[in-house]
Amino acid sequence: MQSAFHDYAVTRSDGHPSAASDRARLGPILAAATSDLAAAGVESPRADAEWLAAYVLGVNRGRLALIDTIRADDRRRLAALVAQRARRVPLQHLVGTAAFRHLELAVGDGVFVPRPETELLAGWGIAHTEPGATVVDLCAGSGAIALSVAAEARPGRVIAVERSPAALAWLRRNAAGTLVEVVAGDVTDPAVLPDLTGVDVVLCNPPYVPVGTPVPPEVAEHDPAEAVFGGADGLAVIGPVIALAARLLRGGGALGIEHDDGHAEAVTALLRVHGRFTAVADHADLAGRPRFATARRV
Ligand SMILES: C[S@@+](CC[C@H](N)C(=O)[O-])C[C@H]1O[C@@H](n2cnc3c(N)ncnc32)[C@H](O)[C@@H]1O
Repeated sequence: MQSAFHDYAVTRSDGHPSAASDRARLGPILAAATSDLAAAGVESPRADAEWLAAYVLGVNRGRLALIDTIRADDRRRLAALVAQRARRVPLQHLVGTAAFRHLELAVGDGVFVPRPETELLAGWGIAHTEPGATVVDLCAGSGAIALSVAAEARPGRVIAVERSPAALAWLRRNAAGTLVEVVAGDVTDPAVLPDLTGVDVVLCNPPYVPVGTPVPPEVAEHDPAEAVFGGADGLAVIGPVIALAARLLRGGGALGIEHDDGHAEAVTALLRVHGRFTAVADHADLAGRPRFATARRV
């Protein structure tokens, strides 16, 4: 199907090359982009159309309301981006960054796009990080949690562990110039971080979706499978992470693990039966969905 947006942005502008017709009204272009994205099943079509237009025009999204017209070359760039978004390429891959708390993280092929819900776990970790503390982020991906702790608390050390070579490249890029130390390692390997003890806070957003669970095209085709799926029951990485945290943490040290919203009972049960954790609790997001479990090392 030829989209209304394609007609408007490309064909029409190409047909009127004079300087006077080089500019077109932004409002109808955004409306057409929104309707194309809605037709493609994009969850927030207007917001995504605006983010892409703001990216092309080099302005904050909030300033779009002040812009009346858009040039033909920008319309063509916008049309190309909208077409990719309609093919369900993640918005963050198209603009090259993901917003997370106060950070803009570089993201793209091979790394998990950090999600807004993980800001809750990061916030909990920040609140539990005393000045000078040692904090470990297991399954660090782009570095969203580790870098937020480094930026918003006053830790002495932040260590970010990640296994995927592709994700490690993004992590190293985002962590460059910060105090975050990047470690290539498998958190399910009992020999990972062999010399580290006395850690104050361990945080982890592991892969936790049960294999076979239907996921949107953005996730299926663009998030790495090893970042999303946590074995048949979704708990394959969480069990070893609990054991590793028990070894790393000092007495009284804090652990926070994000989980699937159907796994609050399973994860808190794993923490209780482990035997080295106390004060086991689960935390819900603003919509009441269980999001992450926490505990203290006895
Ligand atoms: C859900 S993503 C979370 C990334 C980041 N912490 C965030 O919140 O945006 C899970 C990450 O764990 C990594 N990962 C999966 N299995 C791992 C393992 N056994 N050891 C270390 N990292 C692993 C994946 O490559 C991915 O980057």
